[in-house]
Amino acid sequence: MLRKILNYPDPRLRKVAETVTEFDEPLKTLTRDMFETMYHSSGIGLAATQIDIHLRVVVVDVSRDRTCPLCLVNPVIEKKSGTVASKEGCLSVPETVEYVNRAEHITLRAQNVNGENISMDTEGLLAICIQHEIDHLDGKLFVDYLSNLKQNRLKKRISKIELKESTAN
Ligand code: NI
Repeated sequence: MLRKILNYPDPRLRKVAETVTEFDEPLKTLTRDMFETMYHSSGIGLAATQIDIHLRVVVVDVSRDRTCPLCLVNPVIEKKSGTVASKEGCLSVPETVEYVNRAEHITLRAQNVNGENISMDTEGLLAICIQHEIDHLDGKLFVDYLSNLKQNRLKKRISKIELKESTAN
């Protein structure tokens, strides 16, 4: 089932998500819906926070042919190294792409949807995407890394887009 994605600056995007403790059927339904919603919107990642579910769950797929779904439950970055400027966008921040700095390599532990432990070492787009999604779980958006000037411009631009949409409907 497709879920509605919250848009910046919705305050619900600022909630800190809770640790998942039950690896049950509702969790499986949630991750299925998250993949469906992410693929439908042509995104490479989605955090539960973005659909107003405040649990520590993210889904990602950075493959070009959309065949590498990865679901991370309770993800924690244990080690970071290097810095890379990444050009990012977000399904919750329409029509916006900006450079932000991320760690180049990360070591991560998480659980899968069945509660089994996963650990991984990763870099490149996948590492960037995972850092972006974990930020969502902590109520943080990539635009928070921008200067105040850029953030103010962005807020103005987004309120104009919303105004246009509301008069069109
Ligand atoms: Ni995002």
